[in-house]
Amino acid sequence: MSNAVLPKVRLRDLKMEDAGDRYQWCLDPEVTKHLNMPDTYPPFTRDETSEWIGMCINRSNGYEQKAILTEEGVHIGWIDLKNIDRINKHAELGIAIGNKAYWGRGYGQAAMYEMLKFGFNELGMNKIWLRVETDNEKAIKSYKRLGYVDEGILRQDRFRNGGYVDRIRMSILKNEFFN
Ligand SMILES: CC(C)(COP(=O)(O)OP(=O)(O)OC[C@H]1O[C@@H](n2cnc3c(N)ncnc32)[C@H](O)[C@@H]1OP(=O)(O)O)[C@@H](O)C(=O)NCCC(=O)NCCS
Repeated sequence: MSNAVLPKVRLRDLKMEDAGDRYQWCLDPEVTKHLNMPDTYPPFTRDETSEWIGMCINRSNGYEQKAILTEEGVHIGWIDLKNIDRINKHAELGIAIGNKAYWGRGYGQAAMYEMLKFGFNELGMNKIWLRVETDNEKAIKSYKRLGYVDEGILRQDRFRNGGYVDRIRMSILKNEFFN
């Protein structure tokens, strides 16, 4: 897989100061619609957001969550690996570009590329998988471009706006990524 044409991004460890941007991004229902969050508005209070960022920093919640920065250092979103199964060497990925000005410009794929490298090389994973709602066409297209393949439908896997939505489970293997 080549990242030659993608914009450059940097993934860095979270900082407590990231809570402000995170809280603001989560006020936008377009950003949160397909994210695993409660139906309440806002989905998280400022305090809950700070608490969550603190748990990621301390690594007390099982997440490897990182901030996505552009080449110029603009904070545009977050990406994580969770459900890290060290025996079977697979982990679940989540991503959000919270700053909508950066949607549809290749930043999601660029961040994903860096996180896949981290997951395979640093964490020693063999497979990275994710769950995406069947109506999140933009995300599905993005993942397919990167080489993710379908593993199947997870029926009524997300409770959203008072109803259940199916999700597709997709994955990419280490050898597929590096070939
Ligand atoms: C899903 C999400 C991460 C995708 O990120 P993104 O940066 O918008 O998507 P991509 O990196 O795939 O960008 C691809 C688009 O940029 C365009 N593009 C422009 N310049 C590009 C470049 N240099 N390289 C690649 N694509 C480029 C592509 O043509 C494509 O446009 P198209 O979709 O109109 O065909 C993002 O939309 C998001 O955070 N959504 C809200 C949260 C969410 O749904 N998360 C996923 C839950 S499973």
